[in-house]
Amino acid sequence: MTGDTRRIAVMASGRGSNLDALHRYLAALGPRAAATIGLVVCDRDAAGALALAYALGIDARVAAPGPDQGERLASLLAEFEIDLVVLAGYVRLVPDDVVRAYRGRLVNVHPALLPAFGGRGMYGGRVHQAVLDAGARVSGVTTHFVDAVYDRGAIIAQWPVPVAHGDTAASLGARVLRVEHLLYPRVVQAVAAGRVSLDDAGRAVWADATPRRGLTFVPESLEDHEIVRYIDDALDCSSR
Ligand code: GRF
Repeated sequence: MTGDTRRIAVMASGRGSNLDALHRYLAALGPRAAATIGLVVCDRDAAGALALAYALGIDARVAAPGPDQGERLASLLAEFEIDLVVLAGYVRLVPDDVVRAYRGRLVNVHPALLPAFGGRGMYGGRVHQAVLDAGARVSGVTTHFVDAVYDRGAIIAQWPVPVAHGDTAASLGARVLRVEHLLYPRVVQAVAAGRVSLDDAGRAVWADATPRRGLTFVPESLEDHEIVRYIDDALDCSSR
């Protein structure tokens, strides 16, 4: 930790747009940022996130999968004095020793509303295709603490995203990604600032007021007749 600022490692396998969004958000916060990105770790040379890290002047390393990946990752995180690990499109299971060492300090973003449409192999377009195949009308973004199982850890915050008629995995993915870029950096800032933490029972607990607790599709402040209007609109009831 540098003063009050947590040092983040972002782990990514793909293009790195969430890394970019986080970097921009923390930069925009300036001295109010609770964290700084001290390291980017990718599992392959070709990850766009790696090139982006270099372009942004952030230290970056490749930790390819292998039997000793846990030890290599743990020693990298120690070398760079990392306080908080942020998965941003990292498609591999984080090794157990890292999960244990970073309990409550390891977060992920998932492009659907967990616990649905998650688990091994559920990343990228596959998630959105599964949402479409199921006929779900709502998808969204989930941010959560990471435990030893893919996409299972305690949910920190979610935001719903509607599925539109005629959506493809690509169009739904783009709508969801836009919300990821807005939600995830704010969640990372909240975790880094200690506003939300993982309790002993494995729940995400917010230290302050309720608005952070439930990000709901229909705001709690709405009257019944206003909610009915949403439902009528959504189901196209009023004209039938
Ligand atoms: C995002 O949709 C994220 O939710 C998922 O993988 C994608 C990564 O995108 N886990 P990017 O590499 O951050 O652009």
